[in-house]
Amino acid sequence: MIYYFMETFSKNKVYVTRKIPEPGPSILKKYFQINMNPEPDILDRDTLLENVKNVDALICMLGDKVDSNVMDAAGPNLKIISCYSVGYDHVDIYEATKRKIIVTNTPNVLANTTADLTFSLILSAARNIVNADRHVRIGNWESGWSPDLFLGYDVNGSTLGIIGLGEIGTLVAKRARGFDMQVIYYSKTRKRQMESELDITFVPLEELLRHSDFVSIHVLLNKDSFHMIDESKIKLMKKTAFIINTSRGQVINEQHLINALRNKAIAGAGLDVYESEPISSSNPLTQFAQTVLLPHIGSATFKTRSKMAEVAANNIVNFFNGRGIVHKIN
Ligand code: DGY
Repeated sequence: MIYYFMETFSKNKVYVTRKIPEPGPSILKKYFQINMNPEPDILDRDTLLENVKNVDALICMLGDKVDSNVMDAAGPNLKIISCYSVGYDHVDIYEATKRKIIVTNTPNVLANTTADLTFSLILSAARNIVNADRHVRIGNWESGWSPDLFLGYDVNGSTLGIIGLGEIGTLVAKRARGFDMQVIYYSKTRKRQMESELDITFVPLEELLRHSDFVSIHVLLNKDSFHMIDESKIKLMKKTAFIINTSRGQVINEQHLINALRNKAIAGAGLDVYESEPISSSNPLTQFAQTVLLPHIGSATFKTRSKMAEVAANNIVNFFNGRGIVHKIN
């Protein structure tokens, strides 16, 4: 039976747009003909269009724009697009669904890792960690302890406003308890069970923005969340508040955030994501001392990236062996 399964599916071709870690490649090699870009770098468009020709399955990731052109280039054999990510805004879901192509993602496995990074951004932004580290490294620490050196804001006892109480938002709320933070949240759907389990309070978005010391964003990017945080929303925030984003850059109107930082309308921002990635060193966000800027590394731990590779590969195996598609988006 297993032999029959392997015989049948070994004909199917899988293309992986960028090198993913083990055990992803080994799982795929067991059952399919696999072609993987040996580099972790993004492919130029023409190479991507060439390499997807006649594949039955595709593993893609952030930065790969998987639209109708890619689906056309792949041709009618393409049955499944497995995202090596939890976010799937880089895939045209409407087009895929129209063509009966299944799209899957890698939830669960990266939520704790991303929640950890969210907390590092909260702490780093509030306590000047990056600026203080630089101060020491470049030899500016000349006078020892000082009563006003790098004064920051307390995280303990402050109010955390979570926008989007999905997996990651929930895990951020759990971590906040350890810091005795008061947690309020806004989500499209109210999660009453979580409210009692985690002792958190649902509030309208405007109220969340008015009361939070840290506003942390955990929503998927879609037409409702695009530029959800703009000038009118930032205006509601306290002057001493920080905005933290580990979801998608386009949820914030970046120009409006830059204006707010320039005018000191808020205390700072901790960002892992941007409207357009990568940002250059001339992006105005890099000019502010009150920003902590990371290069989209929310899920970047050895263990988590490996787990993501396993899930992305198994999504394809499960699809072809009929065991049921677990992480289906469409
Ligand atoms: C995701 O999975 O969507 C993250 O942004 C990258 O790991």
